[in-house]
Amino acid sequence: MNVLVINGPNLNLTGERNPAQYGSENYQTLVEYIKSEAAKIGYVECEVIQTNHEGEIIDKLHAARNEFSGVIINAGAYTHYSYAITDAIEAIKIPVIEVHLSNIHAREEFRRKSVIAPACKGSIAGFGKVSYKAALVALAGIIA
Ligand code: DQA
Repeated sequence: MNVLVINGPNLNLTGERNPAQYGSENYQTLVEYIKSEAAKIGYVECEVIQTNHEGEIIDKLHAARNEFSGVIINAGAYTHYSYAITDAIEAIKIPVIEVHLSNIHAREEFRRKSVIAPACKGSIAGFGKVSYKAALVALAGIIA
């Protein structure tokens, strides 16, 4: 089973920006954590990408439909207003799980709504890097 993890805008600055919300570990540490948690499951291979561009997220989602069993996405701020990403998730048949490092429901009003959530199998938010581990376990459970 192979999983694509898509990290959207500004996640490359994890560890530097707003550590109270996103933690103090850097992005590379997050990527290594995700890969090591995937390896622990045993049968999950995982590729992790990061982009600051909406169109690239959409291109990666389209390509994933033929290459991956499922997707975990942290769409960053696009979560709250990108109908184009919502449409792309809807358009592909493979399961997509939404994740967030912070608890978006306990933050500013604009972050409490996810426009991509209705297109996703489920959403996990508020557990820091463990949100990704929970999503990997959930995806493995859905696909197995
Ligand atoms: C985030 C939450 C978003 O509201 C924010 O714009 C991000 C990160 C999170 O992981 O908590 O960039 O997706």
